Amino acid sequence: MTATAETTSAAAPKDGDVLVDVRGVKVHFPIKKGVIFDRTIGYVYAVDGVDLQIRRGETYGLVGESGCGKSTLGRAILNLEPPTEGTVEFDGVDIASLSGETLRRKRQDIQMVFQDPMGSLDPRQSVESLLLEGMKAHGLAKNEKEANARLRELLKAVGLPAAALKKYPHEFSGGQRQRIGIARALSVNPKLIVADEPVSALDVSVQAQVINLLEELQDEYGLTYLVVAHDLAVVRHISDRIGVMYLGALVEEADAEELYEHPLHPYTRALMSAVPVPDPVVEDRRERILLTGDLPSPANPPKGCRFHTRCPWRQETRCDTERPELRSVQLEGVSPGHRVACHWAEQIASGELKPHEVKAQITEQSDLGGDEDLMGPASIQEAL
Ligand SMILES: Nc1ncnc2c1ncn2[C@@H]1O[C@H](COP(=O)(O)OP(=O)(O)OP(=O)(O)O)[C@@H](O)[C@H]1O
Ligand code: SF4
Ligand SMILES: [Mg+2]
Repeated sequence: MTATAETTSAAAPKDGDVLVDVRGVKVHFPIKKGVIFDRTIGYVYAVDGVDLQIRRGETYGLVGESGCGKSTLGRAILNLEPPTEGTVEFDGVDIASLSGETLRRKRQDIQMVFQDPMGSLDPRQSVESLLLEGMKAHGLAKNEKEANARLRELLKAVGLPAAALKKYPHEFSGGQRQRIGIARALSVNPKLIVADEPVSALDVSVQAQVINLLEELQDEYGLTYLVVAHDLAVVRHISDRIGVMYLGALVEEADAEELYEHPLHPYTRALMSAVPVPDPVVEDRRERILLTGDLPSPANPPKGCRFHTRCPWRQETRCDTERPELRSVQLEGVSPGHRVACHWAEQIASGELKPHEVKAQITEQSDLGGDEDLMGPASIQEAL
């Protein structure tokens, strides 16, 4: 690959109709200390300036290490976590501007599927009651006959027998429970489903069935998905486009196949290089980038490029002081929609810059409460 022309800044997707438009979104959680008076002594910069657009009918996969802000961004899109800064437009409407009945109606269009179906389904409610809840709340169960027909249709759509209606969540396997979670999301005819780690609690064989189900339902109901996952194989399989997150920001975004063929950001390259390839010849030859050092705390993110403390291509001064913008790059073989947040993406892609050894740095820990939960895994391998 060779660099061909100047770079442009991030732009809205050219093709396709945008359903979700996220602009400059930040979600900062205050860190409080004090027994009698709560004092804010700092912030967790969980999401720190994200721009992304999800097109109608596509699946957008969001991937990154534990603690990088994926779930918080998903919740900000639903306005369950109102952004500290920035806007989220859904179907052309700024979600933050809605309240009361209009917000409630808009929420019908956006549903969530969670990682732990057991935790998200009330164990005291039968499947029938779980599915009817949302339908009633949104006036979709007008009479018994209509509601019954709808319930059966929903169960059929997710591959469960009608007899499941009278049963309770604990009577099902993990995969079946996730099917119930998906049926519940579908019950109110949403436009967007935000699926947060939808298969990571399931056995590998069941994972494939649930992913296939999500894909079938997308075709049948014209759904748009935001799928959050840390498993690259899952994201690759299901996504049309993928965004890679690191410490609260997107570092790369591209069509799924393109991202796997031409990962440009050093962090994405490291993530890809940690995934084993089934072909032993390719496996022996492939590039492996081992990242040293901990994922820094989002309460005290590094200045400049957030990845500079672990980046094998880090260049002095600029990487440490200037935060790179997510920008389109013009490189041979790379599509115009491919965006990357690295000052040196072109030089790294062309081989002009070579990786060097990275000395593990002691990540400066702030004394902002000493919350172990703020720390991520020790290595990429651990995260995956
Ligand atoms: N309500 C909250 N108050 C304070 N900090 C929070 C809150 N929710 C999340 N965080 C912090 O924000 C950061 C991002 O969390 P988030 O759950 O979005 O990450 P994630 O990428 O979804 O991780 P995982 O893959 O483990 O689910 C973490 O450091 C987390 O501890
Ligand atoms: S900007 Fe610098 S530190 Fe950041 S990813 Fe690129 S080369 Fe690495
Ligand atoms: Mg999460």
